[in-house]
Amino acid sequence: MDDHYARPVNVEPAIEGVPVQSIRARFGSPVYVVSEAALRRNYRAMAGAFRSRYPDTVIAYSYKTNYVPGILRVFHQEGAHAEVVSQFELELARSLGTPGEHIVFNGPHKPIDALKAAIALGARINVDSLEELSDLQELARAAGRRVKVGIRVNMRLNDPPWDRFGFNLEAGQALDACRRIRASSHLSLAGFHCHAGTFLTQVDIYERVIAGLVTLAKTVEANGCGPIEYFDLGGGYASGNTPLGQLLPGDLTNPGYEQYAEAICETLKANLRDLRRRPTLILEPGRSLVDDPVSLLVSVVSVKTMLGGRKGVVVDGGVNLLSTAYYFRHGINVAEEYDGPVETADLLGPLCMQVDVLGRDVPLPRVQRGAILLVKHAGAYTISNSMQFIHARPPVVMVSDGRLHLLRRGERTEDLTRLDEIPVHLRSARPPSGRSASRNGVSRNGASRNGHGR
Ligand SMILES: Cc1ncc(COP(=O)(O)O)c(C=O)c1O
Repeated sequence: MDDHYARPVNVEPAIEGVPVQSIRARFGSPVYVVSEAALRRNYRAMAGAFRSRYPDTVIAYSYKTNYVPGILRVFHQEGAHAEVVSQFELELARSLGTPGEHIVFNGPHKPIDALKAAIALGARINVDSLEELSDLQELARAAGRRVKVGIRVNMRLNDPPWDRFGFNLEAGQALDACRRIRASSHLSLAGFHCHAGTFLTQVDIYERVIAGLVTLAKTVEANGCGPIEYFDLGGGYASGNTPLGQLLPGDLTNPGYEQYAEAICETLKANLRDLRRRPTLILEPGRSLVDDPVSLLVSVVSVKTMLGGRKGVVVDGGVNLLSTAYYFRHGINVAEEYDGPVETADLLGPLCMQVDVLGRDVPLPRVQRGAILLVKHAGAYTISNSMQFIHARPPVVMVSDGRLHLLRRGERTEDLTRLDEIPVHLRSARPPSGRSASRNGVSRNGASRNGHGR
């Protein structure tokens, strides 16, 4: 289909000075490529924007967004705390040497052992449910000490509201949770947490969150709770990616850290007089820090003409490595200069699944088998959300000062099968002698003896 597209295709022959061809020659394809410099730039831009306006700001990087340890180390070296939502993430943060008081523990399911560990470490725990509140009460009683907790608050902020996490403000659930904490002889209330959503481009959402939390803090402090030590505003800051549904990249403007910081810090400062103490401001960015510094390098496997003349370019990495393709229109760069027309094509992954599509109507020059494409903004909710479906997962490499470092090697077949067990009687190629299908409870025609069939 000669659907010539006016928009040129970006050519990216090197990532931070390292030729893309040499990355593939060394590590193969597909491969995730992380820029260390870009991770640091993002962190410093965020920290600078907020701390210049509100010095007592803590940045707790949201582990689940991308928890490759080499990436976590970069953020921790910059001074980031850890925001974790599972026992595994809690243990990962500890294994990297994160002090307990630099860990924020969130999430709707905190197993008892994880809560015990978090209490022992002195982590900040934001309570999600009444059940968890009673678990904490019990654990604190058993430990014979008073444990400080925060509560997660949800509010009617967007449509549809993110109301499944924590305690609702408007319905009075948040106030009720605070009352229960006040009544407890083993818990005390230290802070409020509200994560309002992801890729929030309207900064007024954060202003409304602060207004809601300040009102709640005033009420509970007047009733003998607190003082409230921290306001944790969660994550949600946009990256350079383009959500699907926008006409063209850039239609939805990313406010950037300066605007987020201006709105959040000024609103908070304007409300300080209503609070008993100046709270620590906690932020839990994920996407905005780690999305843009990562590209997914893929190679063209085949080029097809589909029904109606539509062009399909099949590459060696798909939604198994980039589930965000369901929600985002990722930018696609080519590694080599091209001449000739730019056409639109569907970018298809290697899975035997119709839904394995990295992008529809992607502007591309006429590429052939072997051409390298770089899928941009591939760092948030991709590697941590990747699937071992059909294909093993590829390596992750980091470009640092013009050099390449392996952060995670690609999986091998033995990695994928390491956890599997084959019972002894199934280890030979044929059924054990004297063991017929019917003796195992399944007759030749497939009906089981208990009558349920297959
Ligand atoms: C509690 C919490 N904090 C932080 C984040 C990170 O959000 P984002 O990647 O949008 O910054 C999330 C993501 O859903 C979250 O659930």
